[in-house]
Amino acid sequence: MRVLVVYFLVFLSLGTTQIQGSNDNERKPYIVYMGEKSPQIQQLARVQHHHLLLVDAIGDLSIAKEARIHSYGRSFNGFAANLLPSEAVRLSEKSGVVSVFPSTIRQVVTTRSWDFMGMPENLVKRNHKIESDTIIGVLDTGIYIEAPSFDDKECGPVPRKWKGKCDKGLNFTGCNRKVIGARFYNLGESTGMDPTPADTDGHGTHTSSTAAGNSVKGASLYNVAKGTARGAVPSARVAMYKICGTFGCSDVNILAAFDDAISDGVDIISVSIGGPTKIFLDDVIAIGSFHAIRKGILTVCAGGNLGPDEGTVGNVAPWIFTVGATNMDREFRTVVKLGNGKTINGISINTFAPKKSMFPLISSALAFNATTYPYTNASACTIDTLQVKKVKDKIVFCKGYSGADYSVRMSHGAGTIISLDDLTTDMASTTLIPTTLVSVRHGAIIDHYINTTKSPQAYIYKSITVHTTKAPVVAAFSSRGPQKVAGNILKPDIVAPGVDILAGYSKLVSITGEPLDTRMNVFNIISGTSMSTPHVSGAAAYVRTFHPNWSPAAIKSALMTTARPVNGEGNEKPLDSGSGLLNPVDAAHPGLVYDLSNNDYARYLCKEGINSSTIAKLSSDKIPHFDCSKFKKGRGSDGINYPSFHYQLGFGESKMSVRFHRTVTYVGNGPSVFKARILTGQKGASVRVVPDALVFTRQQEKRSFRVEVQGQIPEGAINTFTAWVEWTDAKHRVRSPILIYRQGLD
Ligand SMILES: *[C@@H]1O[C@H](CO)[C@@H](O)[C@H](O)[C@H]1NC(C)=O
Ligand SMILES: *[C@@H]1O[C@H](CO)[C@@H](O)[C@H](O)[C@H]1NC(C)=O
Ligand SMILES: *[C@@H]1O[C@H](CO)[C@@H](O)[C@H](O)[C@H]1NC(C)=O
Ligand SMILES: *[C@@H]1O[C@H](CO)[C@@H](O)[C@H](O)[C@H]1NC(C)=O
Ligand SMILES: *[C@@H]1O[C@H](CO)[C@@H](O)[C@H](O)[C@H]1NC(C)=O
Repeated sequence: MRVLVVYFLVFLSLGTTQIQGSNDNERKPYIVYMGEKSPQIQQLARVQHHHLLLVDAIGDLSIAKEARIHSYGRSFNGFAANLLPSEAVRLSEKSGVVSVFPSTIRQVVTTRSWDFMGMPENLVKRNHKIESDTIIGVLDTGIYIEAPSFDDKECGPVPRKWKGKCDKGLNFTGCNRKVIGARFYNLGESTGMDPTPADTDGHGTHTSSTAAGNSVKGASLYNVAKGTARGAVPSARVAMYKICGTFGCSDVNILAAFDDAISDGVDIISVSIGGPTKIFLDDVIAIGSFHAIRKGILTVCAGGNLGPDEGTVGNVAPWIFTVGATNMDREFRTVVKLGNGKTINGISINTFAPKKSMFPLISSALAFNATTYPYTNASACTIDTLQVKKVKDKIVFCKGYSGADYSVRMSHGAGTIISLDDLTTDMASTTLIPTTLVSVRHGAIIDHYINTTKSPQAYIYKSITVHTTKAPVVAAFSSRGPQKVAGNILKPDIVAPGVDILAGYSKLVSITGEPLDTRMNVFNIISGTSMSTPHVSGAAAYVRTFHPNWSPAAIKSALMTTARPVNGEGNEKPLDSGSGLLNPVDAAHPGLVYDLSNNDYARYLCKEGINSSTIAKLSSDKIPHFDCSKFKKGRGSDGINYPSFHYQLGFGESKMSVRFHRTVTYVGNGPSVFKARILTGQKGASVRVVPDALVFTRQQEKRSFRVEVQGQIPEGAINTFTAWVEWTDAKHRVRSPILIYRQGLD
């Protein structure tokens, strides 16, 4: 019934625009954000208030009724409605409204990974009782509950604190004791979502199992990457909030999922979705995670896959834990053997092992359909450019286009060797037919072999796993700082493995996502900051099992200050890797934490220029009255007690005179003295820590210090000054990056 009504409205509004022919007359989904909800007001009254606001802005009762999409109100106040721009402006002027902004569509951007980070399965200490009471809320594409990662044989009863729901739908008959909640949100603009919590994409199953999947022995992708697949907290529970359809993930739905997750009783929220550069009050992930952290829930988000360019990182609010991606100490190698016996190493994830010993090999230039595609690149094998009769059942050699496996498959080729000049050896992908990617240098050898041989032949072997020492290195695709929204907060915060991760997958989609691929598997290997994010969500849940009363900021600090060097000590680039590589085991005992309270975030927002009346709405009546005029306006380096140190100089400035004030809380046992050490490979500046020793007599004591950076960023190509401040006592090492950034001329 409801679906029909929605279609009817869409039809009507489409009709209207066609007649009037202007975008300004088309109602589009907007979010009307109204801050923290007042606990004294019942939801029914809240919905009535939303309705009255809408009627007032639209001026017509029945249009207003139809325009309302959804009322938020379990965890914060606001609603979504289809509005004209003029109506949005009118609503933004109403008292009680914080911001009004159009909904946007966002995109979703393991065996070895835990061992790689020093968290071997049997050796690590676990707190099973608390772990099995831990609930990770995952906002994603749904979940394939039949995957062995979510079997509930080993699970006890559902935690009593759980207040969430379980929707049903096609290929999803209900939850179990492992996946205790599953919802789908199909409000607002169309995202091509199937109305079921089932995962028809695979992404959500993969991320959920990385965070909290069972330990599954003998997991592999058709015997590639064979091992034990497991989440960080294998006893924890998963609550899936499906917010993405085929076309992406709409803001209206993301906010609805946060509204529910916060009140359902999740402990950690994991969001592997890209974040646009928007001010906090217009950004649903910033808004949702702000209300989450006020309830003690840490939100972990992907930094994005827009690297290697600088200034690309998203999801950057200081209350978000922002994650970048590294490789691991393993790569997938796919060897090709030529008819002359020569073998060449390439990369890809090739699960095929055809029985035939050799296949005829042809260069795409010789199979190019020149009559119809005179303007395309004859070597690239782009779609529809190959003559079927020339490539059928042959391996095709292509240049410069990594998606060539699809077009060769469409032309009935047996396999493809792709030569790439920008071959980034850090990532391999599954392919539709036997495929290997080779460097241009190796490509030239193959090219020459084809041209000088009467009947050239080749065979592409199944991929093998090889050990590499070039790890951890930040993946090329991982988004980099500096961030552009909250200038003086270093992002990403941390990096975790996100290249070629084996984890759970959905059998409702093929492993390449292509309909003509028939390989359906409960595990798959994929890459992205989407994959590194649930590593951090799971690790945060792991730390929390040892310290259930810690604030989200303390858990985040513990993970950041214990992170390990990336690229090798001395070569680290905090704009790429933040505090370094996730190190879950040491994070359980960090020694010191940089803690933050809810008031600290409010104070930070004051300094960022948000006024007292807006802060009062964000924080309801919990903070009596917050007077922003007491705080110096403008961006200071002392915005917040953050576990990393970042300052962005103005355009063209290179003189540094920066002071950071911080307070650490001692979380170790017994009296201790921490000494400060500054590490920097860069000349031209002095870095001082005052005082450089901190004495603690007991747990929870706080001590303050400041870090002073004086000097010049040398002229030239480098636009950053990097150093590390490290506090150590006999047992702990508490490390933070200091990064001063000079806005360049690029
Ligand atoms: C999904 O549901 C359809 C319809 O009931 C069924 O035919 C199909 O086998 C199911 N797929 C899986 C992987 O369970
Ligand atoms: C070339 O492409 C056109 C258009 O797709 C097609 O009709 C024609 O058969 C192709 N020629 C060969 C030799 O494959
Ligand atoms: C075709 O692609 C190859 C491989 O990337 C490249 O070397 C060549 O310059 C391209 N040719 C044209 C005409 O674009
Ligand atoms: C091989 O032949 C193809 C097609 O004639 C040509 O494009 C290519 O440059 C030749 N390569 C070498 C290494 O001779
Ligand atoms: C506070 O900021 C909001 C949003 O910028 C603005 O609409 C409002 O008028 C401001 N209030 C005061 C008291 O300055």
